[in-house]
Amino acid sequence: MPPFMEPFRIKAVEPIPFPDAGQRRAALVAAGFNLFRVPASAITIDLLTDSGTSAMSAAQWSALFSGDESYAGARSFDRFERVVRELTGYPEVLPVHQGRAAERILLHRLLEPGELSVANTHFDSTRASVEAAGAEALDLPVPVEDDTPVPFGGDLDVAALDRLLHGPDGARIRCVVLTITNNARGGQPVSVANAEATRRLCTEHGVPLLLDASRFAENAYLVRARSAEHAPRTPREVARLIFDLADGCWASLKKDGIANIGGLIALRDPALATRYRDQLIETEGFPTYGGLAGRDLDALAQGLLEVVEPAYLRYRAESALWFADLLEQAGLPVLRPTGCHAVYVDAGRLLGHLRPQELPATAFANELYLAGAVRVTELGTLVFGRPDPAGGPDVPAPRELVRFALPRRVYTASHLRYVAEVAEQVAAKAAAVPGYRIVRQTGALRQFAATLEPLGGT
Ligand SMILES: Cc1ncc(COP(=O)(O)O)c(C=O)c1O
Repeated sequence: MPPFMEPFRIKAVEPIPFPDAGQRRAALVAAGFNLFRVPASAITIDLLTDSGTSAMSAAQWSALFSGDESYAGARSFDRFERVVRELTGYPEVLPVHQGRAAERILLHRLLEPGELSVANTHFDSTRASVEAAGAEALDLPVPVEDDTPVPFGGDLDVAALDRLLHGPDGARIRCVVLTITNNARGGQPVSVANAEATRRLCTEHGVPLLLDASRFAENAYLVRARSAEHAPRTPREVARLIFDLADGCWASLKKDGIANIGGLIALRDPALATRYRDQLIETEGFPTYGGLAGRDLDALAQGLLEVVEPAYLRYRAESALWFADLLEQAGLPVLRPTGCHAVYVDAGRLLGHLRPQELPATAFANELYLAGAVRVTELGTLVFGRPDPAGGPDVPAPRELVRFALPRRVYTASHLRYVAEVAEQVAAKAAAVPGYRIVRQTGALRQFAATLEPLGGT
């Protein structure tokens, strides 16, 4: 195999801002110490998310030009539908503008109040949709000892699902969801064996199995890399094995569609698809465009072909691994094994002097910004903690993680080296990093709008 490097060369460039220390502090204060509220014009390297931030290929940009903007029956939809059908094997294809639109349409129509959705882990927008339907989202991730590297940390705890199905809550289970890869679990893959075991239980109990396939290609690559049995298959073949086990999927195509917007629902059952199409018309648009421009569908169709190319996926996995090694050398506790879409750091361990309610993950993320205008995401108590209804301290998240997300084909090795250097500066003064408190919060996804304040004053 040739040495690993980016399998592309750069055709168009975009300058990046370099705010100085004073400008960084002013931007963070103005944003209420919430990185979601810092303008992109004040960010040097933006690792907030891999969602919608990818660089499209020359072939995708040229596909845009053949977009058919007809309201109904556009050629662009035919291309998109063909690619999705060939990839997933699901005949019914509904485009939507992004993942959460798919979740809202699918889960709202599927779930009744009091019912249960069980998943390896619901992503936060998925959970919000389940709860908005009056149902309950139950996460059953496979138990993993902290810091014990396991190949398939994204798996569902099949034994726990079995117990649940046979117990008093069994009749309440309306769907089982496998999120591939498991974003909230460090982007770890779900194995084919786990999907098979889940399928068996679902079949036995007549419960539909759905995939949140937002990172289906990365999941397939990691399965291939971590199990000898599947190593000879192409990523596309492994992806298909998992699609074959489920009744349908939804996906945010802002990830493995390698495009800036888009999503889908794909199903086997035409009757269900008809129900969802009615809802699609109400909230997204006509079923052959689903809230997207025709040209978006063309770019997505091309992206879905590129995303399963082995050289591309190897670049994704190896650059994440290389970056994780750099961060570790910089003194950060990195979660292993690495996945593809991000590197996760245990800020709780790095900032051991802070309690979860003092938001160590937020504190670390803000410090990275102040040190070098690097933006990352907190996945700790701000995102996954819950306010105590009795007004006491927040119920903390299980771990205080920070995610360095890797936009697809956007940053080079030297950009990532810069991030590691900034991280090293923060790690060197970890013991002096202040905690935070939430001053104002609203809604189920409080991390987007919350206002925060460093403990001990600004
Ligand atoms: C696993 C997973 N599901 C669903 C979503 C929601 O997708 P979107 O942001 O396109 O609404 C995301 C977004 O990050 C995700 O990671």
